Amino acid sequence: KSLKSYNFKKELAQLPMDIHTMFQQVGQLGDTMGNDVFIVGGFVRDFLLGEENQDLDFVVEGDGIAFAQALNEIIQGRLTIHEKFGTATIQLPDKRTLDVVTARREYYEYPAAMPQVEKSSIWSDLFRRDFTINAMAIQLNKSKFGQLIDYFGGIQDLEDKNIRVLYNLSFVEDPTRIFRAIRFSTRLNFNIEDETKTFIHEAIKDGMLDRLSAERLREEILNTILEKNIQENILSLDRFKVLEIIHPKLQASQANVEKLQTLKETINYFRTYESRPDEIEVVLIVLMHLLSDLNEHDLVESLNKLIANKGNYSKIKETLENRKIIYEQLKQEDLNSYDLYQLLNQFSLESIIYYYNDCDHSYVKHYLLFYVLKLKEIHVEISGEDLIKLGIKPGPIFRIVLERVLEEKVKGNIYRREEEIQFAQQLYRSLKGEKNA
Ligand code: CTP
Repeated sequence: KSLKSYNFKKELAQLPMDIHTMFQQVGQLGDTMGNDVFIVGGFVRDFLLGEENQDLDFVVEGDGIAFAQALNEIIQGRLTIHEKFGTATIQLPDKRTLDVVTARREYYEYPAAMPQVEKSSIWSDLFRRDFTINAMAIQLNKSKFGQLIDYFGGIQDLEDKNIRVLYNLSFVEDPTRIFRAIRFSTRLNFNIEDETKTFIHEAIKDGMLDRLSAERLREEILNTILEKNIQENILSLDRFKVLEIIHPKLQASQANVEKLQTLKETINYFRTYESRPDEIEVVLIVLMHLLSDLNEHDLVESLNKLIANKGNYSKIKETLENRKIIYEQLKQEDLNSYDLYQLLNQFSLESIIYYYNDCDHSYVKHYLLFYVLKLKEIHVEISGEDLIKLGIKPGPIFRIVLERVLEEKVKGNIYRREEEIQFAQQLYRSLKGEKNA
């Protein structure tokens, strides 16, 4: 069905039952209270694209807060009111949230002696939004249930796959929209329309991104990088000269982009071997690749802008600083497993995955994989208490014994706890013997 048929009553009926029922309830409540009510924004965009979206944003022409209170009486969620903004949030038991916004009538001054024009409230609400595809609404009142409201050509842009702003100063007013444009274009595989592109370039040239707090900038950049197609996002950030803002020397080099192309596959490969696959922090590995051409000084400057968390900061820094040494060591033919263990043990799984994806040498890849599969999880089971029970006095000897136990375990000479105890005992005896002799 062409999107141009502007009523979507039938299609709304195909939504999951709970959502459809809720829309009907919202519409009926609007009728009872004398308010026009709409579902707006991201939900409408995704609905028209046939995609699921769990974020429900309603706009009420009238008192949004009173409306939200009445709605919550019906659906029995947890209501939070933001009096100052005329908004309310209802948290549903299934964790979904539902936002209700008050739309107000506003007056718009037109230039050249045109009279002030009063626009309908829903018009005003939609006009302040970011892109045409996000600035549509569907009415929910019974007599108009399913009616699409599209003042700015959102449907056309959905069909033409365009990201387009509604007015020239959109990015000046809200510079985070620069990142949203990039994100939507990769996520939906849409084009940023030419004039909109020019507005982005101008806003960046005029320093609008400098107006964001360091934290906000960091968050937007990292979120943008992670959206669906990583290398596309990085190329886009480079084209709009956002990478230069992080550091003048930072760019998406051909080599790095090529590595990023294989990264997803590499990560999936390691995920199949990991006991906690969801804990791999993809963003760290991406940053390692992105920052890998910088010298130490530029790396530190870039990290200062990009990373607030100290642990992550040093993970990236140390991984890159040790890269050459690691590769040199891992190119040896006859590395024994304990040397391998000691070499890699200080690094996180993210670092290992980065090295694996970065280096093409077959020995290096082999050793990295062997380490993850066979050695990474090995640890000594016995503790100081066990050593005391063996009659060993606490002191530097503890570390020596435990380290030797670890070595034997990594080399595959002992496996079980009892074997560890036995080995520790023998070792202690022979060390004591040496000392006495
Ligand atoms: N919006 C905007 N400008 C912003 C952020 C949001 O105009 N800087 C508007 C858009 O109309 C958007 C709606 O607020 O559709 C909801 O915002 P949000 O939930 O952040 O975005 P979604 O469009 O739902 O996108 P996502 O799928 O990423 O949540």
